Amino acid sequence: MKTRKTPQTLRSHRWYGVNDLRSFGHRSRTAQMGYHRSDYAGKPVIAIINTWSDINPCHSHFRQRAEEVKRGIWQAGGFPVEMPAISLSEPFQKPTTMLYRNLLAMETEELLRSYPIDGCVLMGGCDKTTPALIMGALSMNLPTIFMPAGSMLRGDFKGNYLGSGSDTWKYWAELRAGNITEEEWQGVEEGIARSPGHCMTMGTASTMTSAAEAMGLTLPGAASIPAPDSRHAQMATLMGKRIVELVWEDLCIRDIVDARAIDNAVTTVLALGGSTNAIVHMIALARRAGVALDLARFDALARRTPVLANIRPSGKYLMEDFYYAGGLRGMLAQLTDLLDTSVPTVNGHTLGENIMGAAVYNDDVIRPRSNPLVASDGLAVLHGNLAPNGAVIKPAAMEAQFQKHAGRAVVFRDYNDMAARLDDANLDIDKDSVIVLQSAGPQGAPGMPEWGQLPLPKKLLAQGVRDMLRISDARMSGTSYGACVLHISPESHIGGPLAFVQDGDVIELDVPNRSLNLKISDAELGRRRAAWVPPKPHYTRGFGTLYLKHVTQADKGCDFDFLEDGASPEHATPDPEIH
Ligand code: FES
Repeated sequence: MKTRKTPQTLRSHRWYGVNDLRSFGHRSRTAQMGYHRSDYAGKPVIAIINTWSDINPCHSHFRQRAEEVKRGIWQAGGFPVEMPAISLSEPFQKPTTMLYRNLLAMETEELLRSYPIDGCVLMGGCDKTTPALIMGALSMNLPTIFMPAGSMLRGDFKGNYLGSGSDTWKYWAELRAGNITEEEWQGVEEGIARSPGHCMTMGTASTMTSAAEAMGLTLPGAASIPAPDSRHAQMATLMGKRIVELVWEDLCIRDIVDARAIDNAVTTVLALGGSTNAIVHMIALARRAGVALDLARFDALARRTPVLANIRPSGKYLMEDFYYAGGLRGMLAQLTDLLDTSVPTVNGHTLGENIMGAAVYNDDVIRPRSNPLVASDGLAVLHGNLAPNGAVIKPAAMEAQFQKHAGRAVVFRDYNDMAARLDDANLDIDKDSVIVLQSAGPQGAPGMPEWGQLPLPKKLLAQGVRDMLRISDARMSGTSYGACVLHISPESHIGGPLAFVQDGDVIELDVPNRSLNLKISDAELGRRRAAWVPPKPHYTRGFGTLYLKHVTQADKGCDFDFLEDGASPEHATPDPEIH
């Protein structure tokens, strides 16, 4: 049991409460902003790390939500400090937000370290923002609550619900196959994203915010509330109130996120039919918490966990439906035998107490254990001579015929090569071929973008083909569908075996046996490796060089090697140089 904090033992006391020249500066400059001593003296200073920006549509409600969090903090006797952090906007940032996930994690850690912060509310949701904020907070280890952005409303087109990403790919394929008009395509454009909030399919955003709740980092039920729902605003205020008490209790994020909480989050990801991206993020996040999560653990949990959430792209419904059907609490209540329900959470109750009695109101959206969407294997980890350190596939979101498949490789050396040649009428490819993309990994792309759902050639689309076996060292959007082998490690750019695949080689996938192999001899593989010339690095200056020098491979979470281990040693006191 921890000792309850007092005003004198708050971290911020070293900035505000002592009587020296430096603290005079802090108090006089706080007065400059219009605050009286009585506004903050002896109170927990709460950072609201806000990833709002004018170019992040998923967080466009965050200015308002920050005010609601502040209202709760004031009411509970805290002193709120809103701090903007880089806004990783999935639709806009190039080459990929993944290039910058670790930058936001570093920024979060350093904001919390360098200012007089006692506790924090992290505001995120759009894909990489959730893992980045939590990774940074784990390294700093203060009392922390994560405020999920909430999903946007269902998309609408001609009376049909549209799902983020999933229906973009679907209607794009129909447009390329000549089955819909340009005018109809524009109708999809106007209706697919019609409110604030993150993607409302089971993409990375819904997956990772739900994982955050399963880890105990949100108030119960928070991750499932749609962004525009007034209950989302209420939740924001309640989080503001709770974080103040969490500081007095001195319940820090690493008191909550341990191996048990990580396993609970992975089980949740799997039961949701969650994004493959969660594998990279959960491994990185776990390593920040000192937990040695690896691909083997993911696969072991996948073998025992049923997919219960009937949500696109694996299923039929959207996050708004999931909320009305009982939300994450309803789903977790079906899984108590697979979870450690004794773990603490930020509201001071155990996970088990938080989900006790949670009901399901639509058992087609949240399936019962007796009728899962898929019995197990929401995700699967592959090994073989093409992926010595592992690769990933999402069996729940692909045509079943590809579970065991062998075909001839059609190789593209990079994304531009694929874009230039894929639709060439003379390309030697058929529905059984295996499309291979090289140079799309953490270093190769760079940034490991979501290119892994490789497009199908136009001529095969016109023949009615809608899925093929595709392999790469890229990631794939959680909203995507298809037989796509992803995250091949080591990646081709650094000399992984994917670099040596040639047109016409036979590639064999066997999901039940978890294998992925290039059917050439070891001697031939050795000859190709010896002849391989390493490509030049993508960056020679700036953040990109730091990234290339330190990013780890996909099976290690793509964190920077120098950020992985240990809590920040500096968190107890301000930097002596601060003035
Ligand atoms: Fe932000 Fe999908 S674009 S969550």
